[in-house]
Amino acid sequence: MLTQIDTVDGFRKALDAERLAGRTVGLVPTMGALHAGHAALMERAAAECDVAAVTIFVNPLQFAPTEDLAAYPRDLDGDRRAAAGAGAQLLFTPSETEMYPGGRDAVTTVSVPGLGTHLEGRTRPTHFDGVATVVAKLFAIAGPCRAYFGEKDFQQLAVIRRLVSDLSIPVEVIACPTVRDDDGLALSSRNAYLTAAERAVAPVLHRALRAGIAAIEAGERDAAAVRTVMSAIVGAEPLATLDYAEVVDAHDLTVPARLAGELRLLIAARLGRARLIDNMGVTV
Ligand code: PAJ
Repeated sequence: MLTQIDTVDGFRKALDAERLAGRTVGLVPTMGALHAGHAALMERAAAECDVAAVTIFVNPLQFAPTEDLAAYPRDLDGDRRAAAGAGAQLLFTPSETEMYPGGRDAVTTVSVPGLGTHLEGRTRPTHFDGVATVVAKLFAIAGPCRAYFGEKDFQQLAVIRRLVSDLSIPVEVIACPTVRDDDGLALSSRNAYLTAAERAVAPVLHRALRAGIAAIEAGERDAAAVRTVMSAIVGAEPLATLDYAEVVDAHDLTVPARLAGELRLLIAARLGRARLIDNMGVTV
């Protein structure tokens, strides 16, 4: 059975009671509009922990004023069904005033240096401070737990791992693989913004990543050459505008002089109203 809680105090008490009874807690932070990618995280939390707790909060701190906070898809009824269907027992749905009682401009913030300034951070310079702040707050509310995040947001995952390590937060971060549609498009709440024509073009991100990986597997060791391979594929689609295509070290997200070790290829592009991101890994 799924219990919905919308106060910080209520959610904290519910999870404290679970731990007191000897049960392990699996936390799945989300912004709602839940899809099969979120379901994979929720199902894994339910399988690996005694209690799976899902949070839904469209966090204003991680949206720039020009971004899609007001338009971000919301579907609480569907989300309740998805969370219950995936085996979650608790659903935390706080309001903005519950999370930020002093207002969103008067919040103590957390900033993770180094990891958040390039890739997504170049287009969205305040984004990861907003993510780190809300995730730190959710961890403080939830208490010791396992927390499940998707590799779909690979840079976010790196920021959260660093946050947990630097602040000694008693949370075990679990990374889950990206869930894709049959044509390769990574599932995202923002895919709802795509027109039919844009949706048909959207798998180009995945195609570009695969081509980048194929180039590395064929022996390419120069990051700029791999960038060129990926950019050319997105560039051939008139409906898509590339934001970045990059290949980085999977651990510290720096661009290696010569490609070696565990690598991550990351890409972002605009299609109409939607800004889509994707990534894939390869080891040399
Ligand atoms: P949201 O975009 O709702 O994503 C919630 C979680 O689901 C994230 O860990 C994300 O990486 C994961 N996810 C999204 N699409 C996925 C897919 N196709 N396959 C696998 N996992 C996927 O990411 C956020 O919300 C927010 O930034 C949040 C961490 C909740 C902080 O506000």
